[in-house]
Amino acid sequence: MKNKTCLVTGANTGIGLATAKALCKNGARVIVSSRSKEKAMRTMDAIREELPDADLDYALADLSSQREIRKMAAGLKNSYSKLDVLINNAGGWFSTFALTEDGIERQWAINHLAPFLLTQQLLPLLIQSEDPRIITVSSDSHFHGKIHFDDVNLRQNYHGLRAYAQSKLANVLFTREFERRKTERKLSSYAVQPGLVKTDIGLKHTLSLHGLAWKIRRLTGKSPERGAETSVYLAISKEVGGISGAYWDKCKQKNQSKKANSSEDASRLWELSKEMCGIDTYFDG
Ligand SMILES: NC(=O)c1ccc[n+]([C@@H]2O[C@H](COP(=O)([O-])OP(=O)(O)OC[C@H]3O[C@@H](n4cnc5c(N)ncnc54)[C@H](OP(=O)(O)O)[C@@H]3O)[C@@H](O)[C@H]2O)c1
Repeated sequence: MKNKTCLVTGANTGIGLATAKALCKNGARVIVSSRSKEKAMRTMDAIREELPDADLDYALADLSSQREIRKMAAGLKNSYSKLDVLINNAGGWFSTFALTEDGIERQWAINHLAPFLLTQQLLPLLIQSEDPRIITVSSDSHFHGKIHFDDVNLRQNYHGLRAYAQSKLANVLFTREFERRKTERKLSSYAVQPGLVKTDIGLKHTLSLHGLAWKIRRLTGKSPERGAETSVYLAISKEVGGISGAYWDKCKQKNQSKKANSSEDASRLWELSKEMCGIDTYFDG
């Protein structure tokens, strides 16, 4: 990964931190994206403690805010001439319904629209790479998901699990529709299932009962390092360069859900996401 630059969102903890570390070990320059400078600094210190020569930089954005996503991408476009790998890893799980500053339900905004918009904003840098890769961390939860086109914000019928599964299904649909619509052949997109991983995702914004359920569930989970393996494999492997648009688990392609195979939903979601992000032309904007 020498001379390759990778951006990892949500790199300050959990799977994202393990991904960033592994990419550094492989010699890449890694930009850790976090929502505060303090968290980014702590992350870089933690990585350098283990890997003193790690080539690190940071970029800041609260990914629930489209304004901040655009600002972070603009900063990166000023500082860098290319980006080889974008890992859309950041994600959240929220027990209760709330809207972001853009008037969008939080899981939909952070887990789906943020990867959709950040990828689009960084396309000018990605297309400067010889082998640009976009890796979006989804989940097998997408098998239980459905896109509620009549109410994606789930204003009428919010449940944390429903919102999470919907957003993770959107990650898979986005990945395959990106492949279908892309205008540059070399751009590759991958959706990843990290498996059940022992992180704090289910403790941060959850009611106590949901937090307890996550504490029990994650007991059987794998380490963040193991959870990061497929993302890292897709970032560095020479074999996967040409395989794009698929769903991956344990460093292998895996069948996605039936709903994720719907071309009609993929196309409809793309148009809806463009509208929700205020994008006119995705690839040439
Ligand atoms: N853990 C699992 O079993 C599992 C299974 C399947 C898929 N996943 C997926 O794996 C990814 C990583 O999750 P994880 O388990 O490693 O959880 P985690 O430890 O909670 O990490 C999530 C990361 O996303 C960041 N993030 C959340 N909301 C953000 C926002 N508004 N702006 C900027 N950053 C934000 C977090 O930052 P803060 O620290 O500031 O909150 C954190 O760095 C997620 O996409 C998740 O859906 C996890």
